[in-house]
Amino acid sequence: MKTYGWGILGPGRIAHRFLNDLPRCEQASLAAVASRDLDRARPFAGQYGFQKAYGSYSELLQDPAVDIVYVATPHPQHAELAQQALEAKKAVLCEKPVAVNARQACQLVACAAANQQFFMEAMWTRFFPVNRQVKALLDSGALGAVTLIEVDFGFGSWPRGPVDHPESRIYAPQLAGGSLLDVGVYCVSYATWMKGESPTAIKALTTRVSTGVDGMTAVLFQYRDGAMAVLRSSVIQATRVAATIYCEKATIDVPEFYHPEQAVVRSRSGDVEDQVIRAPYSAGGATGFDFEARELMRCLDDGLLESPLMTWRQSVDVMDLLDSIRREIGLVFPMD
Ligand SMILES: NC(=O)c1ccc[n+]([C@@H]2O[C@H](COP(=O)([O-])OP(=O)(O)OC[C@H]3O[C@@H](n4cnc5c(N)ncnc54)[C@H](OP(=O)(O)O)[C@@H]3O)[C@@H](O)[C@H]2O)c1
Repeated sequence: MKTYGWGILGPGRIAHRFLNDLPRCEQASLAAVASRDLDRARPFAGQYGFQKAYGSYSELLQDPAVDIVYVATPHPQHAELAQQALEAKKAVLCEKPVAVNARQACQLVACAAANQQFFMEAMWTRFFPVNRQVKALLDSGALGAVTLIEVDFGFGSWPRGPVDHPESRIYAPQLAGGSLLDVGVYCVSYATWMKGESPTAIKALTTRVSTGVDGMTAVLFQYRDGAMAVLRSSVIQATRVAATIYCEKATIDVPEFYHPEQAVVRSRSGDVEDQVIRAPYSAGGATGFDFEARELMRCLDDGLLESPLMTWRQSVDVMDLLDSIRREIGLVFPMD
């Protein structure tokens, strides 16, 4: 069994959550972590048992013990750091969204191709067994065509988000904050994956917070066959965080669609069985980040440059849709 040395860029909140699960992967070794400040890298390295801690991202990228780089910084740094890692001949797992806009995302995947290195968006939702089984069921055609998709992802409390959390990247325009890029990306990615195509028409409305980023955004997609998707994201109102997929013959409810342990299929016709798709993963303290890490290492074992579960094209298409929604609501970031 081949093992791979992992290097982490940005030891912040998501990096801590990822490191709860990465050590559960037999093929992963903890090679190095880098912060912009060595005093933040050292305690992170000590807590999880990394071999090295660096006080700059560029030092980690030169470390030959690092095979895979996990980009865990805020959104605006994703594309640039991922490209630096690819040019240093590392495989890359990059947090969502892969970039701030489609232009950056296109440059990023072109860089992966030019350097013949593996790249994958850390859209962890795609790798959960429940979601993969739901997708397989839709693709089988057994439920008929997908006619309507509802997805929501909201957290936070109305209306004080930025007031209560003035330091948070979530509300900061210079860190491409707001609900759309932070959690709306899950809704757009999920609907696009489950429907298997991008919409042909898009409408959107937003409510901004005092910092100018979108606090709450509602999006309508219409597909070429007339099917629709209704998507809602929020960083000022907690919501159910669930997906419902209506098909001609049945309805699928996926509670906590972004990391589900079950989905409920309810028939609306005699020729489809009701069923509950179950795939628990959290017993023993796992939180589900191991699925994406295992998929990445499986792809490297197989000599692939991209995962069939989260392709380069799909990441770029989602960024394209986010750009279209931003045009609809007039949301521009300083780094656009
Ligand atoms: N998959 C998921 O479930 C999930 C959940 C949460 C977040 N995310 C994604 O993960 C990314 C990071 O989110 P987070 O909540 O972990 O962010 P965070 O804690 O605010 O920042 C992560 C780290 O990025 C580094 N960094 C580099 N440039 C920075 C800058 N200009 N400003 C602030 N920090 C900077 C910092 O580490 P050093 O300064 O020490 O290097 C910081 O600790 C986001 O893009 C988000 O979309 C994914």
